Amino acid sequence: MYSILLSTHNVVRWLVLAVGVFAVVRVWRGWMTRAAWTESETKVLKAYTGVASLQFVVGIVLYLMSPLVRQGWGDMGAAMRDANLRKFVVEHPLMMIVAVALVHIGAGRVRKVTSDSGRYQAATIFWGIAIAITLGFIPWARPFLPF
Ligand code: HEM
Repeated sequence: MYSILLSTHNVVRWLVLAVGVFAVVRVWRGWMTRAAWTESETKVLKAYTGVASLQFVVGIVLYLMSPLVRQGWGDMGAAMRDANLRKFVVEHPLMMIVAVALVHIGAGRVRKVTSDSGRYQAATIFWGIAIAITLGFIPWARPFLPF
């Protein structure tokens, strides 16, 4: 079960990145060109919040099952002094929770704001920060694919 979750988490990372980068480029272009917000952008919004939420749920379950995390919680002091353990016990989960929250806050702002340019602006800022955090806190030293 643990290895299936880890593999799923590994692969879904590429979905999050692909949809996230696509979404940010698209809303940034919409903001710059003063485009109208259309049904297509709403679909992109749903896709980005959807894959980010999926990865979040898999990440939480993985956190509860991971032997690495269990080892870290077993001796938190030692885990904080070990860069690899600290990454998986604290830094990666915490920053990814922030990133996923920003994706949702951005989507919430889009729904609230009434002007199209305001929608594009909010989405660009919140999703831009979210994708930067995601890129920065993915453990790139791990395999690029599970197989
Ligand atoms: C957009 C969000 C996220 C992305 C893109 C992401 C990406 C990744 C990647 C690529 C790995 C390495 C997988 C491997 O070694 O094959 C990983 C490991 C891990 N992630 Fe995430 N993650 C995200 C969110 C989360 C969240 C929210 C949590 C927990 C709250 C979490 C917990 C973990 C843990 C515990 C591991 C290491 C598990 C182990 O080696 O035993 N992740 N993550």
